[in-house]
Amino acid sequence: MPSPSSSPALRDSVVTALRAAGCVFAEDEAELILTAASAPHEVAAMVERRVSGLPLELVVGWAEFRGLRIAVEPGVFVPRRRTEFLVAQALALAPGAGVVVDLCCGSGAVGAALAAGLGPVELHAADIDPAAVRCARRNVAGFGGVVHRGDLFAALPSALRGRVDILAANVPYVPSGEIGLLPAEARDHEPLVALDGGADGLDVLRRVAAGATDWLAPGGCLLTETSSRQTPAALAAFTAAGLHTRLATSEDDHAHVVIGVRP
Ligand SMILES: C[S@@+](CC[C@H](N)C(=O)[O-])C[C@H]1O[C@@H](n2cnc3c(N)ncnc32)[C@H](O)[C@@H]1O
Repeated sequence: MPSPSSSPALRDSVVTALRAAGCVFAEDEAELILTAASAPHEVAAMVERRVSGLPLELVVGWAEFRGLRIAVEPGVFVPRRRTEFLVAQALALAPGAGVVVDLCCGSGAVGAALAAGLGPVELHAADIDPAAVRCARRNVAGFGGVVHRGDLFAALPSALRGRVDILAANVPYVPSGEIGLLPAEARDHEPLVALDGGADGLDVLRRVAAGATDWLAPGGCLLTETSSRQTPAALAAFTAAGLHTRLATSEDDHAHVVIGVRP
C-alpha cells in the first residue's frame, strides 16, 4: 500500500481540515501526521483527534527535543522547546558531569537530552506521577537511565546524596489562580500535578531548592525554569538554600533559568 504521505489529494484534505480547526501551522502538522500514519484510516483518526484539540505531540506520539524524538503519552506533560535552554545551560556549566538527576522528569526529555549531550553518565530521573514514570522509562532507557517514582528527593536512592553534578528540575510553576488562563491544549490535556505550582507558582521550586544541597556534589548545580515575574523570588529561594545563584535568560526562547551552584 502506498504511504499516506505520498498522496497529494490526502495531504490537501488534511491541511484543509487542520486549517478549518484553527491550526496555525496546518501544513507542518499535516506533514507530521502523514508521516506518522501507516494507512489512510490512521490519518483520518489522527486528524480527528487533532481537530478535537489534542496536542499534536500526543496525536503522533512524540515530541522533538534537542534533536531527540521523545515519546509522549496521554496524561504526561509535553516537553516544551523553551526547556532546551535549561539543558544548554547545564551542559555549558558542567560539561564533565558524571552524575545527573532529572527531578520532576515528566517524559524524561531533559534527562535524555543531558545524557545525549554529555556522553556516558549515571542518569537518574524521578516523578511523582506513574504515567510520567512509565513514559520516562521509554525515553531514558537508551542512555542507561533509571527512573524512580515518588515525591521529589524521597524518590531518589540515598547513595546519590552529595554526588549529583547536575540536578535539573523543571518543576510545575504556574500559579494556581492562572491555570484557567493556560491554552486549552495544556489545561485540558496535561495533568494538574504537572502545571500547578501553588499560590505564587513556586511551592515545588522552593522545596527543591531547600533540599538540593544535600544531594549536590561540591560544585554541582541545580537548574530550574520559571517565568520572568517569578525570578526574584526564585533567586531568593536558591540563595536562602546556600547556593551561589544566578539567572540565565533567552529572549528567543522566552526562557528564564535559575541556576544555583553548591559552594
Ligand atoms: C512542568 S512538568 C515538567 C516535565 C519535564 N521535566 C519537562 O520539562 O518536560 C512537571 C513534572 O513534575 C512532576 N511533579 C509535580 N510535583 C512533583 C513532586 N512533588 N515530586 C515529583 N514530581 C512532581 C509532574 O508529575 C510533572 O511530570
